[in-house]
Amino acid sequence: MSTGKIESVLSEERRFDPIESFASQAQVNEERLDALRRRGGSDPAGLWADLSREMLAWHKPFTVTLDRSRAPHFAWFSDGQLNASEACLDPWIRKAPDRPALIYEGERGDSRSLTYRELGEAVERLGAALRGQGVASGDRVVIYMPMCPEAIIAMHACARIGAVHSVVFGGFSARSLYDRVVDASAEVVITADAGRRSGKFVRLKAAVDQALEHGEHPVRRVIVFRHSGEDIAWHDRRDRWAHELTDSAAAGCPAEYVNAEHPLFLLYTSGSTGKPKGIQHSAAGYLLHAKLTCQWVFDLREDDVFWCTADVGWITGHSYVAYGPLANGATVVIYEGAPTYPDGGRFWSLCERYGVTVFYTAPTAIRALMKLGDELPAQYDLSSLRLLGTVGEPINPEAWMWYHRVIGRERCPIVDTWWQTETGGIMISPVPGATPTKPGSCTRPLPGVHAAIVDENGNEITEPDRGGYLVIRHPWPSMLRNIWGDSERYRETYFGKFGDSCYVTGDSARRDADGYFWIMGRLDDVVNVSGHRLGTMEVESALVAHPAVAEAAVVSRPHEIKGESIFAFVVLKSESARNESAPPKSEGEAARSEGERQAIAKPSKQGAMQQQLRAWVDEQLGPIARPDDLRIIEALPKTRSGKIMRRLLRSIARSEAINQDVSTLENADLVRQLTQP
Ligand code: PRX
Repeated sequence: MSTGKIESVLSEERRFDPIESFASQAQVNEERLDALRRRGGSDPAGLWADLSREMLAWHKPFTVTLDRSRAPHFAWFSDGQLNASEACLDPWIRKAPDRPALIYEGERGDSRSLTYRELGEAVERLGAALRGQGVASGDRVVIYMPMCPEAIIAMHACARIGAVHSVVFGGFSARSLYDRVVDASAEVVITADAGRRSGKFVRLKAAVDQALEHGEHPVRRVIVFRHSGEDIAWHDRRDRWAHELTDSAAAGCPAEYVNAEHPLFLLYTSGSTGKPKGIQHSAAGYLLHAKLTCQWVFDLREDDVFWCTADVGWITGHSYVAYGPLANGATVVIYEGAPTYPDGGRFWSLCERYGVTVFYTAPTAIRALMKLGDELPAQYDLSSLRLLGTVGEPINPEAWMWYHRVIGRERCPIVDTWWQTETGGIMISPVPGATPTKPGSCTRPLPGVHAAIVDENGNEITEPDRGGYLVIRHPWPSMLRNIWGDSERYRETYFGKFGDSCYVTGDSARRDADGYFWIMGRLDDVVNVSGHRLGTMEVESALVAHPAVAEAAVVSRPHEIKGESIFAFVVLKSESARNESAPPKSEGEAARSEGERQAIAKPSKQGAMQQQLRAWVDEQLGPIARPDDLRIIEALPKTRSGKIMRRLLRSIARSEAINQDVSTLENADLVRQLTQP
């Protein structure tokens, strides 16, 4: 895709220097940052090697820093050995066993806290139980849990025995869960009876049951935590209560030492095809970056109460809930529920009650809470806060200013952190004691991160404010190692464009005259809905899987709160074609398909069909993928060579004037139809 036309329309002049009282105490001040940047610029591998020796508890020290022999599969510290969970938790279990590690609050206000000792014991008990169930080092375990301590315990228990966790966000549908279980060939699933959100149950165990009815799968054991007390169906041969297994497990659970490159986890994320990618991260490089960036970017210390509002189902919930802050001995707050339950003061109430010092959330949440006005946050004592962060999508300057003024009370630095599931940790961000900030910019790459903006030919763009491809031109320890089971796709997606040494992020960005980075959005068919990545192709595949749908094209349009929202254009099959749809793959699908057939056999009004299709996407992929807009049209606009004209559809979805060239359109009359409201 050409970036030649990427023009920036944003011009933000405000600038905020580091707050003196913060900077004078910060772990990284300007001087240290300069030194790190110099070293990271001239000898990135040397910098990472020093930091990993300093920061990680190695069982066997490494001698090789960066191995490029299998590029673009890079290996870091590869002859070293450690255990990521032990390296994370054990120093604090020894040093501060009674310090709260996790403070949990449920939506109804129920709360519990686990000290580092208790967390360590729970991890060992579950690790031993998993071993007792035959889970060995390298085996994949799918975790499909509510946002509760047991989700984190499950992740660490896997890490402790060298098993590879693959957390699937609890908001994903049974179908998505099935696809991920099969792709990872996981034999064990860890889940809970149900979670809660917005006053409703999220029936996780029922979704697991449904997923496992969907088709062939390798799962032999489902381990269930009792969490909500909801009644659930039980399959004697397959299901086990977690508490029964842990009660009867052998005492202790010695850590499994693994090579630095051993996979710590897989996390599925959307790409530009219909199939999600299992992003594979390594044990040592990943942990190093998660731990280190907590210090550099969040200035995190042992006495901090850190609250990152992300669910463990996303990368942010991995790096900045389950691993990074615990590796630094901080106290981590987790909340299971909606930010607006019972009202929009919930986040601020939690900050007040638990004395949160560092708060990290997504722009979508900030915008939603900003809309509710200044009165709600004003009711809470937010004086414990000392630093605020954002992640997941560009933050508009208005939301940034509100966050700064109303939440930070103009005394907390804001770190706008750019990174991705693939990068493992924060890559471009202010360092709060040293970097002046500008609302809407993630500022500059962290030391050792060789981010650049390049043109179509891979040449660096030095001219200010000209958009191009955001790339990283030197490997870094927490980079993804592979797409699970698909090395070719890994190579093609991330290194196909500019060669083995140039990781392509998929984002476009520009740099201003001060060298500050401004992220402009995705260059591929990935949309960012409420800070969550979704492939338009995934939504299209879900739509065409409906027996009534012939073709679908999905684009995004800007959305006031969510950042972007999904707009689907759908072409329906003729009545006769619908009845000849492919046979269902399983019993569950058969029942559903029959229902669908009956529903669509009757002439249905457009509105009813739109509702039905939106609900269908919800069922196939989960509520975040449900299109906000769905338009049924006669045909998709295509070029004569059969390519869908997505740019035209995007303009239509955004109600923009159509000024692009439509002369190559197969059916020119269609434009007139499509632009009619
Ligand atoms: O487009 C960028 C956007 O989110 C994408 C990564 O999404 P995901 O892998 O789900 O990880 C989200 C949490 C790290 C990026 O390619 N993005 C992330 N952070 C920012 C951002 N866009 C602008 N500013 C950010 N701070």
